[in-house]
Amino acid sequence: MKALVSDHMAEEGVNTLRKYCEVDVKVGLPPEKLISIIGNYEALMVRSQTKVTASVIEAGKKLIVVARAGVGVDNIDIEAATKHGVIVVNAPTANTISAAEHTIALMLALARHIPQANASLKAREWKRSKFMGVEVRNKTLGIIGLGNIGSEVAKRAQGLEMNTIAHDPFIATSYAQNRGIELVSLQELIQKSDFLTIHTMLTSSTRNLIGKEELSLAKPTLRIINCARGGLINEEALLEAVERGQIAGAAIDVFTTEPATDNVLLKSDKIIVTPHLGASTEEAQINVAISVAEQVAAILGGQQARYALNTPFISQESLVSLSPFMEVASLQGKLLAQMIDGQMSIIEICYDGEITSYTTDALKETVISNLLEDTSEERINLINASVIARDRGIKITEHKNTNCENYTSLITTKVTTDTGSVTVGGTVMRGESHIVRVNEYWLDIKPSGGYMLLCDHQDRPGLIGQVGTITGNANVNVNSMHLSRLKQGGEALMVLEMDHPLNKEQLQQILGLAGIHAATVVNI
Ligand code: NAD
Ligand code: MLT
Repeated sequence: MKALVSDHMAEEGVNTLRKYCEVDVKVGLPPEKLISIIGNYEALMVRSQTKVTASVIEAGKKLIVVARAGVGVDNIDIEAATKHGVIVVNAPTANTISAAEHTIALMLALARHIPQANASLKAREWKRSKFMGVEVRNKTLGIIGLGNIGSEVAKRAQGLEMNTIAHDPFIATSYAQNRGIELVSLQELIQKSDFLTIHTMLTSSTRNLIGKEELSLAKPTLRIINCARGGLINEEALLEAVERGQIAGAAIDVFTTEPATDNVLLKSDKIIVTPHLGASTEEAQINVAISVAEQVAAILGGQQARYALNTPFISQESLVSLSPFMEVASLQGKLLAQMIDGQMSIIEICYDGEITSYTTDALKETVISNLLEDTSEERINLINASVIARDRGIKITEHKNTNCENYTSLITTKVTTDTGSVTVGGTVMRGESHIVRVNEYWLDIKPSGGYMLLCDHQDRPGLIGQVGTITGNANVNVNSMHLSRLKQGGEALMVLEMDHPLNKEQLQQILGLAGIHAATVVNI
């Protein structure tokens, strides 16, 4: 077998791989050259420079594995890899400490104006009063995203005698409490922080997590650090807030477009910048290279890898029996992820009927991986979903009842948070997935894919028409509608399947109708 290493990689990793296969190191290949030679290799090992596009994957007829020596896999087309049966692995924890230390370094540099003072003295100036700093001791550090790096940053900040607060809806309160960290809302975190650091992945829901509106909540003394991904903080809004003195400064390692030699943030003297150096230490580079080399070796040897991002682990035999229910399970996870509110603490999955005669692990992993899918850079799949949930302090329970009253088989998932719980039940009928339960309501929805509006309301004449008028005025087509009520005139649930989503204002109009208790739009 042959492996191609196409970015600079620590020699220790390359040598580890050489024990298992023939290795070519060819750094800086133009895309067309990479495409022309990739067909000779079973494995490709990259850092962030090589773009592993769909064309590269397609040309890699023998490719079995693509390995990313680092956390972020933004440079790899995972969808194309999955489609072509190519396993993608990364090293999600191997550079955690380096990224956490760089965050702390930037925080201290920000507090004491170190880069600016260094530049000033080298320009032969001696301006001591210009660079008056602040202590970090007794200050509040707000951490957005309490995953691998956020948790390590908290530990180090506590060593500097800082108060640590965090915002992360996808971990259990006990996880933060055990680390002496108070969990708060995003708004409270911004309002209370003297320093704020962000450690989430970049997804459609975290893009511009900090923008103009959020910055307007900050104290004028706030200093912000971003060592995660460009785009989490809106760069224009940040520049304006710093320049107007709305906040005191920022230190940024990552940018919306890299290399970032023309970035707007370079304009401000109050913003410290580094060229994506979070993982640039000798130790991290050795760790990531060895971690992925060992995983490549395992995969080429026919074994599973610890950090495979796209390989479901399920035996062929179970797959045949369970595959119709896998879609039900994935639907439940996706729905619940969008319906819950507050800190997640328990996931309970109940299997009723015939389904209990199979090993249901793959269904459990499917529910959980879809529930947590968009919350972590550590791609969550059938192999690692429960492990990650448990690592985050979330309790997982499963129940099996061989009897099922109204269906041949039923899967029901209940997610409990600190504000309550949400339950979704589903089954398979004539080979198709149906949602048959939402909280205490029984109904029958065969989702057509797209958007759903779920309204808890009082069963009264005219209300459905009023909701329909709002969707109609919004030019949003309703393609099917489902109703369930506990008793005549009592609590009820209305579910509208829509071709397009409603915007915030339209949803507010619905919420403003007399008798509507709650309204949520989900995308499935
Ligand atoms: P992680 O997956 O361990 O942690 C991410 C955390 O963010 C999770 O706890 C998740 O629950 C939380 N989260 C998700 N959505 C959220 C939201 N909307 N609000 C608040 N929290 C949310 O990831 P990690 O290993 O800690 O990495 C964090 C980031 O750092 C990633 O983007 C990674 O690519 C980046 N990174 C950068 C460098 C660098 O060189 N600058 C080095 C390593 C990692
Ligand atoms: C990562 O995702 O691991 C970091 O951004 C570091 C890197 O890409 O080198």
